[in-house]
Amino acid sequence: MTLVLGIETSCDETAAAVVADGRRILSSVIASQVELHRRFGGVFPELASRQHVLEIMPVIREALARATVEWAGLDTLAVTSGPGLVGSLLVGVNTAKAIAWARGMPLVAVNHLEAHLYANWLSAFAGEDGIEAAPPHFPLICLIVSGGHSDLVLMTDHEKYHVLGRTIDDAAGEAFDKVARLLGLGYPGGPAVQAAARGGNPAAFDLPRALWRNGYDFSFSGLKTAILHIVQAYAGLPGQPSHRAPMPASRGPKERDLPVADLAASFQAAVVDVLVEKTERAAGEFHVREVLLAGGVASNSVLRQEMTARLALPVRFPPPILCTDNAAMVAAAGYFKYRTGARAHWDLDVHPGLRID
Ligand code: KG4
Ligand code: ZN
Repeated sequence: MTLVLGIETSCDETAAAVVADGRRILSSVIASQVELHRRFGGVFPELASRQHVLEIMPVIREALARATVEWAGLDTLAVTSGPGLVGSLLVGVNTAKAIAWARGMPLVAVNHLEAHLYANWLSAFAGEDGIEAAPPHFPLICLIVSGGHSDLVLMTDHEKYHVLGRTIDDAAGEAFDKVARLLGLGYPGGPAVQAAARGGNPAAFDLPRALWRNGYDFSFSGLKTAILHIVQAYAGLPGQPSHRAPMPASRGPKERDLPVADLAASFQAAVVDVLVEKTERAAGEFHVREVLLAGGVASNSVLRQEMTARLALPVRFPPPILCTDNAAMVAAAGYFKYRTGARAHWDLDVHPGLRID
């Protein structure tokens, strides 16, 4: 059995986890900074890195204690080295290097996007009968949709990636966060939009679906702008209305109540439509065996339902707590790297703009 301690500090979650053989979670501790950043309506980078400094060692100790594992029982450390906020990444990477040096342990550097993808290997997937699901089968298509990235990836084996498309402007999660702000739904945006959309009509507004049947790249900024124009029109402001979005009947100086639920539901449906359409097309073109969803937006219940209902092949996604940032996924990805002999050295640095190719 190989035990990996994963460390994750790329954004606003300080996390540590112990995972056995890349699949079985012995512990997963997440100190969320959501409350700290809420009043800024987004992550305040300097505050995030300071909070990581305060939390990192208690979180690591807690992960070891919950797993009932001693330092000597661990085989390796795995840490996120990018992408992410530079000041946040530095805390995790320097902590991991210090521990590796002091304890004479190996260290593996993990790409945060690969980590999201490897959340699908974690055996939190034991079915109701308690039997662990088989690990994903290659080749597969993975849709990684987070706050900073939207990547559609063909994976032919461990660490063999072919990026088919990515966003050319806003990431899917970023669009959720910005639209939540426009609709006055608060932070973090994704769960707030999902909750607001629950009673809404997804067909109430005919919103744009950019690059709809065109290649594998995504674009979400036009959708966000269309929502902005509708919000302005309801507020009686002279915005530039999107040509496809219907305007309220009596547009003018008089303010009207914003149909928040209908707007949230229509926006969510537009994002999900594009994500499902492109994933389905890629799965067909490359004759894959299954589809994996990963990243914070993969916890969206409508995306999960629609992807499962509309695709003819198996669709797998982690439970919501393993879709958003955590360290179990870092330990899982780290395990598969460790197995190949990959090791980080003392010159390991952070890579805020790291990509998956
Ligand atoms: O993967 P993640 O935790 O952090 C990054 O690596 O970015 O993703 C965070 C993003 C945020 O933009 C958040 O609004 C979005 O994931 N998100 C959701 C949902 N839960 C989180 N988006 C849509 N629906 C959700 N239920
Ligand atoms: Zn993430």
